[in-house]
Amino acid sequence: MTMTQKITVPFPDIDIEAIRRRAWQVPPAREVTGEEREALMSRIKQLLKEQNAVLVAHYYTDDDLQLLADETGGCVSDSLEMARFGHAHPGDTVVVAGVRFMGETAKILNPEKRVLMPTLEAECSLDLSCPADAFRAYCDAHPDRTVVVYANTSAEVKARADWVVTSSIAVKVVQYLHERGEKILWAPDRYLGSYVQKVTGADMLLWQGSCIVHDEFKAKELQKLRAKYPEAAVLVHPESPDDVIKLADVVGSTTQIINAAREMDNPVFIVATDNAIFYKMKQAAPGKKFIEAPTGGIGASCGSCAHCPWMAMNGLENLAHTLETGENEVHIDPEVGKQAMVSLNRMLDFAEQLKQQATGEANIASPA
Ligand code: 13P
Ligand code: SF4
Repeated sequence: MTMTQKITVPFPDIDIEAIRRRAWQVPPAREVTGEEREALMSRIKQLLKEQNAVLVAHYYTDDDLQLLADETGGCVSDSLEMARFGHAHPGDTVVVAGVRFMGETAKILNPEKRVLMPTLEAECSLDLSCPADAFRAYCDAHPDRTVVVYANTSAEVKARADWVVTSSIAVKVVQYLHERGEKILWAPDRYLGSYVQKVTGADMLLWQGSCIVHDEFKAKELQKLRAKYPEAAVLVHPESPDDVIKLADVVGSTTQIINAAREMDNPVFIVATDNAIFYKMKQAAPGKKFIEAPTGGIGASCGSCAHCPWMAMNGLENLAHTLETGENEVHIDPEVGKQAMVSLNRMLDFAEQLKQQATGEANIASPA
């Protein structure tokens, strides 16, 4: 039988409102002038070269950081590919432009490399909504369940998990575990968890965290916008609320959203995720129109305005500074790192197998 089991031990209190208030106080990176920009860009390029360092940036970071990563042989991607790329790259230093869990993931997978970030203050509401102590206690109370955590968590939480997943692979991993008869304890994103539960039919106990950016998207307003643009396709990241996901033509990770814009014939896309992704979407699908999904109803004030305040902390100035000084290096307790590497590697191995299967199938479909 498929169901979401009732919680049988007291669920830890998560004050999402406090996390939200904290998020809106986060200072964005300083905007630089045109002249400063040129100087910083060339200085950063030089420092990356001198230090045999590679820049790995998330799609939600500033356009200039994405441009730099592209121009210097780094990578701009979703969180799964960021982990894979940083791990496979031969450089001595990985510079991660994104939020803290992304830097930690790079360090866990590359304990021998130096991992730097423009700022160590860039958090994530999902990570904050899943404190390691409460999480461990909760897992201990459910020893019969396989623990699957989203990548947006601390190293300590990953260390307690059996599996780590990102949004691009969550459905496939849970499907696989469900087919093996395993019951899941899922953390921390309740919306992604509920979406995965619906698609797979797995028995999942859901932690109640959420992303303060995606949970601002509003279904009613989205419906109105869609009526205004009947030719548009709606692309939704699965960290969004259930009623927003229901309206989607495509639900997917950041990379999957970009691919959909490239591959679908629609001339217009309404996009429910961080608007910094438009930089890559415009490159992937030039000539198409991209519209932000609404984050508030009439008269409502918009908190996030579809942009992650922690991602916005990454800028050219603090990127140059970390390379100049070596400040903001990510450190992980080696024992925690070793444990977390097991659950992360499970995901990377699984992703590799999926890739090989897909290549094998493609080769069978079109023999050389
Ligand atoms: P992706 O893995 O889809 O890039 O998502 C990461 C994230 O933090 C989205 O809010
Ligand atoms: Fe975390 Fe949401 Fe920001 Fe992604 S957008 S890093 S889930 S707070």
